[in-house]
Amino acid sequence: MAIWAIVPAAGSGRRMQSTAPKQYLDLDGEPVLLHTLRRLAELDGLQGIVLVLRENDQWWSSMAAEATGLPIPLMICEGGEERFQSVSNGLAALEDRATDEDWVLVHDAARPCVRVTDMLRLVDVAGSHASGGILATPVRDTLKRGDASHGILHTVDRSDLWSAQTPQMFRHGRLREALRLACQGDRAVTDEASAMELAGHAPLLVMGSADNIKVTWPGDLLLARLVLQAQRQESESTPGRVYASTE
Ligand code: CTP
Ligand code: MG
Repeated sequence: MAIWAIVPAAGSGRRMQSTAPKQYLDLDGEPVLLHTLRRLAELDGLQGIVLVLRENDQWWSSMAAEATGLPIPLMICEGGEERFQSVSNGLAALEDRATDEDWVLVHDAARPCVRVTDMLRLVDVAGSHASGGILATPVRDTLKRGDASHGILHTVDRSDLWSAQTPQMFRHGRLREALRLACQGDRAVTDEASAMELAGHAPLLVMGSADNIKVTWPGDLLLARLVLQAQRQESESTPGRVYASTE
C-alpha cells in the first residue's frame, strides 16, 4: 500500500509567544521542523512528504537545503488560515500522485519526538481498518469540569477518554471528502479525526507514547530536549531497538 505524509507547518505559534514560529525554533541545534521531517523519513515505505508552509514564510529557506537532502521526496505547498485548510491544501497537492485508496499520514510539524515504532504500529493497525486511525494515549490525570471562576463542578469519568496525537492516518480520498464536508459546517475541526467522525467514520485509537509531545507552550522546548536525550540514551542502551514504545 502506498503511504504519503502531510506535515502542516503553516501555523504562527501564538501560544509559544516567540518571534519565529515554533516549528523553526532551535531544538538541540536544529529547527524543530527538521527533527520532525527526519523522524518521518525513517519510516520505511513512505513515498514522500508534503510540507505545508505559511504564505511568505521567511524561515524555511534557512533550513531548506538540509531538509531537501533527506532521503525522501519533499513537496511543498502553501497553507491556509486554519489547520484543516492547510491539510486540505496538502491533500490537493498530492492529487496528481496519490490515488483515493492511498494512505495519508498527517503529522504536526510541532511533534518532533514521535517514535518510529509508534508510527509503524499505526501503519500496521490503522492500515487494516477502513476508517484508518490515530496515535493516542489514555488520559492519565483525574479530570475536573470547572466553572467560570475556576470552581470545580464535578469530576469527569476518564475511563474511556484518550488524548489525540499525530500522526493520523486515513485514505486519501476519504479524508479529502471529510475535510470538504467539515469545511461547509460550522463545527470545530481541530484534527483530521474530527472531520472523519463528522463524516460518519469511526477511526481507531492506536496506542502511542506519552513523550510524543506537541511543542505548544514556552516550557515545552526544554521538555522536548529532555525527551530526545532520553530516547537517544534508550536506543544506545538497547541497540537495534530504536525509539521503542514505552508500552
Ligand atoms: N498549522 C498549520 N496551519 C494553520 C495552523 C496550524 O499548518 N493554519 C500547523 C502548525 O504549524 C502545527 C500544527 O498545525 O505544526 C498543529 O497546530 P498548533 O500546535 O495549534 O500550532 P499553531 O497553530 O502554530 O500554534 P497556536 O495554536 O499556539 O497559534
Ligand atoms: Mg493552532
